[in-house]
Amino acid sequence: MMKIKDFLFSLRGKAILVATFFIVIFMAITGYVILSREKALYLKDRENQARVLVEAAGINFTNTLLYQEVGLIEETGVIDLYILDLLNKEKSILTVIIFDNDGKVIAHCHLVEHGKFYENAEEIITHQATLVREVNDKNRGPFLEAITPLIVGTKRIATLRIEFSLKDFYVKLADLGKWIFSLTILAISGSIFFVVLGINAMTRPIRRLSKAMDTIDYGRFDTLSERPRRDEIGHLQMSFTDMVRRLRDADLQWENTFNSITDLIIICGRDFRVVKANRALAQGLNTTTDRLKGKMCWEVFHSEIALKPALNGPCPDCPHVVTLKTGNPSAMEIEYSSLGGIFQVTTFPVWNEKGVVTGTIHVAKDITEQKRLQEKLIQSEKVAAMGQMVSGIAHEINNPLNSILGYATYLLETVDDSSPLKDELDRIARAASRCKETVKRFLNFSRETPTRMEPVDIHEVVGEALAMCYPTISAQGIKVMKEIGADLWINADKGQIEEVFINIILNACDATSRGGELFIIAHRDGSMSTVQNRSWIKVKITDTGCGILQENLKRIFDPFFTTKEPGKGTGLGLAVSHTIVKNHGGAIDVESTVGKGTTFIITLPEILSHYREEGQVRD
Ligand SMILES: Nc1ncnc2c1ncn2[C@@H]1O[C@H](COP(=O)(O)OP(=O)(O)OP(=O)(O)O)[C@@H](O)[C@H]1O
Ligand SMILES: [Mg+2]
Repeated sequence: MMKIKDFLFSLRGKAILVATFFIVIFMAITGYVILSREKALYLKDRENQARVLVEAAGINFTNTLLYQEVGLIEETGVIDLYILDLLNKEKSILTVIIFDNDGKVIAHCHLVEHGKFYENAEEIITHQATLVREVNDKNRGPFLEAITPLIVGTKRIATLRIEFSLKDFYVKLADLGKWIFSLTILAISGSIFFVVLGINAMTRPIRRLSKAMDTIDYGRFDTLSERPRRDEIGHLQMSFTDMVRRLRDADLQWENTFNSITDLIIICGRDFRVVKANRALAQGLNTTTDRLKGKMCWEVFHSEIALKPALNGPCPDCPHVVTLKTGNPSAMEIEYSSLGGIFQVTTFPVWNEKGVVTGTIHVAKDITEQKRLQEKLIQSEKVAAMGQMVSGIAHEINNPLNSILGYATYLLETVDDSSPLKDELDRIARAASRCKETVKRFLNFSRETPTRMEPVDIHEVVGEALAMCYPTISAQGIKVMKEIGADLWINADKGQIEEVFINIILNACDATSRGGELFIIAHRDGSMSTVQNRSWIKVKITDTGCGILQENLKRIFDPFFTTKEPGKGTGLGLAVSHTIVKNHGGAIDVESTVGKGTTFIITLPEILSHYREEGQVRD
């Protein structure tokens, strides 16, 4: 149906239809004119024959009537015989009638009609000369009527009327009509055939041009390869080829410009589908620009859609959506997982001629490095501010701390060894000195002051850290399981290493709900090579707490990173611990499963017993 419609509305279809219409009309008129002419000629011929015959017969009938009148012929029925003879000779004669001057039938080919008066007789007997005419009788059909007056001198004695059949005339006419009709159909078909051929040949180059224009619409610029014709279509073809060349040049120029930009660009439709992408983006994604076409923009920028169905849609506050709504440029920072970085994304509206925003140009600038440097700068500014603040208040804290420590030490010396206060005073003295150490650690953190190294027993330092955390552990009802290998020594600043364990144990307590478990396992690591007489000690502190989210794992060692409520955590515990362990030539690793628990693994270089005994420790 569509094809017929297409054909009817095409130039070729219209030309063929119009030509066919005129050919049919022309041929029909021609056929009709030929047939009418033939009929007129043939009828004229028949009329002439009838005229000759009626006039010749009229002479004979006049004579016979005259002879009867003057008595030369006595016997009756001569005229009837004569009529019979006429009928036998001329087969086309239907009837022969002779009327007297009163209109009475005086002779008839059917004898029974003799003596009758006909209705039309009056009109017949008035004609003064021979008359031949075609009569169309309702009952008998068409026939030829020839009337001639029978005159002697100037006296009219009777009127002869002969009817001639036109049956064979109409049969012949019908045959002629059929023949002309067949000829007309043949001529029409032949003409249409040649017209179609001609129109096809004329419109072929136009169709080719149209096809070539269609391909341009799809971004291909193949020009017509054949040699142009010399007529108007040839001119059109040449102008078109020229236009194509200019279009191709403009397109190439645009494409080159688009692809020379190092920012990542897509042209995005209202439906979020990529209409065009530049080469920088395709290279960044390790694909081709063609493959990006038609994809949803979030499929292009978020590689982990399969894992996170929430990403299967526009980003929150998507600048594309904002630009489509407002018609203004919009910008925001977005992390694109497929490109592994943070981008400054700006969208610009694309307007159509009706003033409607049909899509946006989406320009993404990689600011990952800039962001990292910015964060580092903020961080170092924070750290510097913290260092300043800490060193500012250090003296204020140190003075009362010194007093607490001094009085605690003085009381310790004065009380009896058996006194029940001795243990408590000892705790106060140690807590105060740990506070002093912590203040020092803050200073260490901000100023990187050197540490005081000595052989430290892991068993002892872990025990002391646990003792310091005991109030929290017991308040939380946490079950502690310890498995510390024998004779594990490190070269360390005891206070600092204790601080590391305290930080990690306290974090574990914070993450673990009531009745949780804490495992502390320390052993020599056999899997590591003992290069230069150095082996390693691993201390694993495992809790059954809430675990750490994947996205937080890489940030927990950052200074001031905390997920705790304000006032409950400074975010310095792990940062300080990390610095301390690093300063001791070791490392901290973390493994965590959300909802199951976390393990911190502290790896430190061991000092072998003979070095320890000899008092030679490595630093
Ligand atoms: N065992 C753990 N289980 C779950 N999360 C932990 C664990 N240890 C550390 N974290 C996470 O790491 C963050 C940083 O820890 P860090 O010790 O550096 O700071 P903090 O404990 O928040 O504050 P601060 O130690 O200075 O009082 C914590 O806020 C917490 O989110
Ligand atoms: Mg902490």
